[in-house]
Amino acid sequence: MREASVQFHDELPDHAGLREEVLRGLRARPRRLPPKLFYDRRGSELFDAICRLPEYYLTRTEMAILRANSTALAPLAATPTVLIELGSGASQKIRLLLDTLRPRAYVGVDISRDFLLQSTRRLAADYPWLKVYAVCTDFCQPLQLSCCAPELKRLVFFPGSSIGNFELEEAARFLRQLRALLGADGVLLIGVDLKKDTRVLHAAYNDAQGVTAEFNLNLLRRLQREMGAQLDAGGFRHESFYDDKLGRIEMHLVSRRAQQIRIGHEVFHFDKDERVHTENSYKYSVEEFQALARRAGYDPQSVWTDADRLFSVHCLRVSRS
Ligand code: AVI
Repeated sequence: MREASVQFHDELPDHAGLREEVLRGLRARPRRLPPKLFYDRRGSELFDAICRLPEYYLTRTEMAILRANSTALAPLAATPTVLIELGSGASQKIRLLLDTLRPRAYVGVDISRDFLLQSTRRLAADYPWLKVYAVCTDFCQPLQLSCCAPELKRLVFFPGSSIGNFELEEAARFLRQLRALLGADGVLLIGVDLKKDTRVLHAAYNDAQGVTAEFNLNLLRRLQREMGAQLDAGGFRHESFYDDKLGRIEMHLVSRRAQQIRIGHEVFHFDKDERVHTENSYKYSVEEFQALARRAGYDPQSVWTDADRLFSVHCLRVSRS
């Protein structure tokens, strides 16, 4: 087999910043931990497992939408294009787009270094005609990617409704900032989860096998592994619910009893039932998301949904005005 060649760029900020963010979050009231902390190797594997769960409709529905609309998508790469995937994870959905669009180059951007390398290497082996780049970074930071085929037109793919993990104003700021990466003639293809029956949402974030619970608790295990935190992960439980007014799923870790977490010299006391807020996952209507995109300086071009209107994929162009 051909040696899979991937041009790798490591731009992950240092670990000290993350430690500070964790400490700040645990000192705050209500307590919180940043969701980007989910994605170490173990967390990325667990997220991959979530994407295959029967209750987690998001991944398979987005794939079905992309498959069903491949003819409409094909012209997006009519000129030589570099396809950039933000939060590339296991790089599964991208295969569908690579077959349809046949771009000149692919850039996988992810915060989980080992996972990113493994999946982009696999991709390079399976698509020998494609130039493959892997950039390990936190994509919430402004991205230039001047190292990766800067001469080609850019198509940015931001799948999985990861935009839902931003607060509403943060989402607008993030999209606005992404325009610099796209350039004047770039296209953004973005997956957005839709508002729907609360029971469907609840099941998706409280799966019967407990994989989402494990994913949530892995945050604490990561603090143990990487920051030498002294804590009992089993002393916490996963909680997730849909807040109808705010239009978001909230995930929390709830203390089963009075206990403490120690990181370095700092001790954090928890009462029974005290929580750490770990993630929000906002759900949009098609109109709400298009309004957000316009506010952030985009012209919505097309939107595709499935027949049950569970999920949407939007095609946006940077606004000329
Ligand atoms: C990555 N992100 C879009 C997922 C979501 O649905 O908000 C993360 C996740 N959290 C729990 N299950 C999946």
